[in-house]
Amino acid sequence: MTDRYAVFGNPIGHSKSPFIHRLFARNTAQALTYEAILAPVDGFAPALQRFFAEGGKGANVTVPFKEQAFALCDSMSEEARLAGAVNTLIRQADGSIRGENTDGLGLVADLEANLGSLTGKTVLLLGAGGAARGCILPLLNAGIGELCITNRTQSKADMLAGQFAGHGKVTAIAMPELNLAYDIIINSTSASLSNELPPVPARVVGSHSVCYDMMYGKETTAFNLWAKAQGAAQVMDGLGMLVGQAAKSFALWRGIEPETATVQQALRASLA
Ligand code: ATR
Repeated sequence: MTDRYAVFGNPIGHSKSPFIHRLFARNTAQALTYEAILAPVDGFAPALQRFFAEGGKGANVTVPFKEQAFALCDSMSEEARLAGAVNTLIRQADGSIRGENTDGLGLVADLEANLGSLTGKTVLLLGAGGAARGCILPLLNAGIGELCITNRTQSKADMLAGQFAGHGKVTAIAMPELNLAYDIIINSTSASLSNELPPVPARVVGSHSVCYDMMYGKETTAFNLWAKAQGAAQVMDGLGMLVGQAAKSFALWRGIEPETATVQQALRASLA
């Protein structure tokens, strides 16, 4: 039987994961199927259990089920444990389910592919929700020099910085008190979804800064437009992170790391 994979979410119709994984499978000559499964908001666990009982080999999990998936795992990676959420599930030979979180690994892979080594870079992370939490350990493991977290609700940034303090140089600074320019500024907030900007002062953007919005789409995001207007050296959207996290999932399932550049191009073209 052909190996079966799927992404679970609600809603799921917009998911690009089937497009990406089917291209990976074609490019690496892997025989597999990958489908999108709409799980009821209150019925994720039974839908997932059915999928694995029917022989499913692995799954991706997206909004709003990443925390529920975390609770269903028999074992998990350090990234997943610290993220408190998983986006990748692997059914192991003994039938147990292992959880991974590849979102932050995909972000780091995209940054490194475009900028080279992140060693010593100063990074400002905007936001302190699930998306922010998931990328902190991978950024620290990539050797960045310093991570500063800032958030509209500053108490959440303080808490997050405290939780990761043992893993590297992590600080939290309230938005109005930010007074340095950073090498890399990452917008993990959902502000771009409503075409809004996090209230961050323009002085964090220097002429050397690379500004990264985790959002992606047909149009440039509000954050990237703002960053360009402040004179950022480069702006990037989250399309490379999306393909990068998928590549890490695919590698965990199939033992082969797919090439991502052409898949990014194909995805970008499909949005145009
Ligand atoms: P996700 O899982 O996508 O990270 P989340 O956990 O709901 O979603 O977190 C959303 C993040 O975006 C939070 O940091 C939130 O700031 P608050 O903690 O102050 O709510 C941030 N956010 C959302 N809309 C925003 C806006 N318009 N301006 C600034 N920050 C915003």
